[in-house]
Amino acid sequence: MVQHQRYSQLKNGGDEEAATLVFVWTNRGYYRRRRPKILSFLLLSLLSCGFILAPHFFSFSSALSHLYFFGVQNDGLSGDLDVNAPLCSSISNGSVCCDRSHFRSDICFMKGDIRTHSPTSSVFLYSPKNSDDNVSSTVDGDELQHEKIKPYTRKWETSIMATIDELNLISKRRNSDVDHSCDVIHDVPAVIFSTGGYTGNVYHEFNDGIIPLYITSQQFNTEVVFVILEYHDWWVMKYADILPHLSSYPPIDFNGDNRTHCFTEAITGLRIHDELTVDPILMKNNESIVDFRNLLDRAYRPRITGLIRKAQEKTSGCALATPKRMHNQPKKPKLVILSRKGSRAITNQNILVKAAEEIGFEVHVLRPEPTTELAKIYMELNSSDAMIGVHGAAMTHFLFMRPRYSVFIQVIPLGTDWAAETYYGEPARKLGLKYIGYKISRRESSLVDEYDKDDPVLTDPSSLNQKGWEYTKKIYLERQTVKLDLTRFRKRLLRAYDYITRIHLQSQHLA
Ligand SMILES: *[C@@H]1O[C@H](CO)[C@@H](O)[C@H](O)[C@H]1NC(C)=O
Ligand SMILES: *[C@@H]1O[C@H](CO)[C@@H](O)[C@H](O)[C@H]1NC(C)=O
Ligand SMILES: *[C@@H]1O[C@H](CO)[C@@H](O)[C@H](O)[C@H]1NC(C)=O
Ligand SMILES: *[C@@H]1O[C@H](CO)[C@@H](O)[C@H](O)[C@H]1NC(C)=O
Ligand SMILES: *[C@@H]1O[C@H](CO)[C@@H](O)[C@H](O)[C@H]1NC(C)=O
Repeated sequence: MVQHQRYSQLKNGGDEEAATLVFVWTNRGYYRRRRPKILSFLLLSLLSCGFILAPHFFSFSSALSHLYFFGVQNDGLSGDLDVNAPLCSSISNGSVCCDRSHFRSDICFMKGDIRTHSPTSSVFLYSPKNSDDNVSSTVDGDELQHEKIKPYTRKWETSIMATIDELNLISKRRNSDVDHSCDVIHDVPAVIFSTGGYTGNVYHEFNDGIIPLYITSQQFNTEVVFVILEYHDWWVMKYADILPHLSSYPPIDFNGDNRTHCFTEAITGLRIHDELTVDPILMKNNESIVDFRNLLDRAYRPRITGLIRKAQEKTSGCALATPKRMHNQPKKPKLVILSRKGSRAITNQNILVKAAEEIGFEVHVLRPEPTTELAKIYMELNSSDAMIGVHGAAMTHFLFMRPRYSVFIQVIPLGTDWAAETYYGEPARKLGLKYIGYKISRRESSLVDEYDKDDPVLTDPSSLNQKGWEYTKKIYLERQTVKLDLTRFRKRLLRAYDYITRIHLQSQHLA
């Protein structure tokens, strides 16, 4: 029987398996600096391979199918209104309570003698001895209660839920002869969830996973163990900077680890509030999406500090050759273009870059790949003043921009108005970004070359969206590119530029 240890304790020992985990973890996470540099480098390269090998990187469009479906079916839905889980607020020792009242997710609570049993996909809760006064009615070892749950936050979407592992939560009378004994004892609660489903698409990773994980586990102040169904090493590595800020303990691969883990408290399933957001009204300590973003900033700081130092070391060798920026030369506002290739690309991006530079922006073009380290994207966006991108999963990175100071311009292709506003526009405003939605005109869509000018595809996209997801996907998401009308788009660039200059002046006056 062993005690589950936090990372810091494991650094000085622990069993071999745990040590391996920590080795990987620490080299990307919090304690990275204690490791030799070469090792980190090797691990980083390995990491990239890990991403490439990751089994499922859904294309954005296929992963969005359900979103549109959802949109058509549930227009106007505004997230869960229920505060935490009033149905289970006074859960007693030895009981399982499931709150299934929410539209987006189920969540079950257990308290007492909790033991995992992965061979039967079960978590058992043994009722305390002699606590039940109706002993005669139940034989030793009988199930008192049996709940089934799929701990994933897209409950309404039957097609993807069918792929999620189901967990049995079973409360039983204690029978000392039969009971499986504890292999690992935990003295902090468990949060049990799945990283299956649409995990592999960055929108889903934040919307369905990381943010709900924050919402559900924040209350424990990192004193919580994550037990993961459909566990992927690449996921743990990709989020290795963030996870230690949510849990001080290495996560458990539920199916890959058949030891019996024992807890006294467990939450199965994650709470979710709305698209890419945290609703303070539903949080114990009023945390908002800005608090979540502050956590990201703390999480990426060590890695980014290291990256900057490395870059400085590189350039310091030729310091004489690179003249320093003049002190009185004002810094240009930085604009990041999140670039796509293929569908929903901006076909005249070079002209966009030129126009933005003429206005006075310093322009960076960024094309995030699934293998791009999130800390690097964070570094790029946290230091930028504006971001432009065509509607798609990569817009999720608006979470990396600085609230109040930055402008997010989303280019909205034909037929994507609802999704662009729901998944990114409104959440970006909630974060406190200046949001500008740029609905393209028909002339700016590549679809004008394919359809007659009176075709409903061009004149009435919402009628096509209503026909079903297949239409939206095939026509508007997979077959459309954008050629920006720069006379029209320039106005947004100017608006963004003015906003940034004004905000900078304001903050200078305050300082
Ligand atoms: C709840 O049950 C656990 C396990 O049986 C026990 O250790 C703990 O003392 C109990 N707590 C209370 C408040 O009864
Ligand atoms: C005990 O269990 C029996 C059979 O299930 C039931 O009829 C009876 O009402 C229970 N008594 C109490 C006190 O719960
Ligand atoms: C898991 O189960 C397998 C097969 O029953 C067994 O060989 C193995 O030792 C178990 N692993 C652990 C860590 O208990
Ligand atoms: C959360 O907000 C409520 C209402 O605005 C306030 O009464 C409460 O003190 C706040 N709690 C914290 C921890 O800030
Ligand atoms: C993000 O930008 C802010 C403001 O410039 C800065 O204070 C903070 O340290 C940056 N965060 C990271 C992780 O670099």
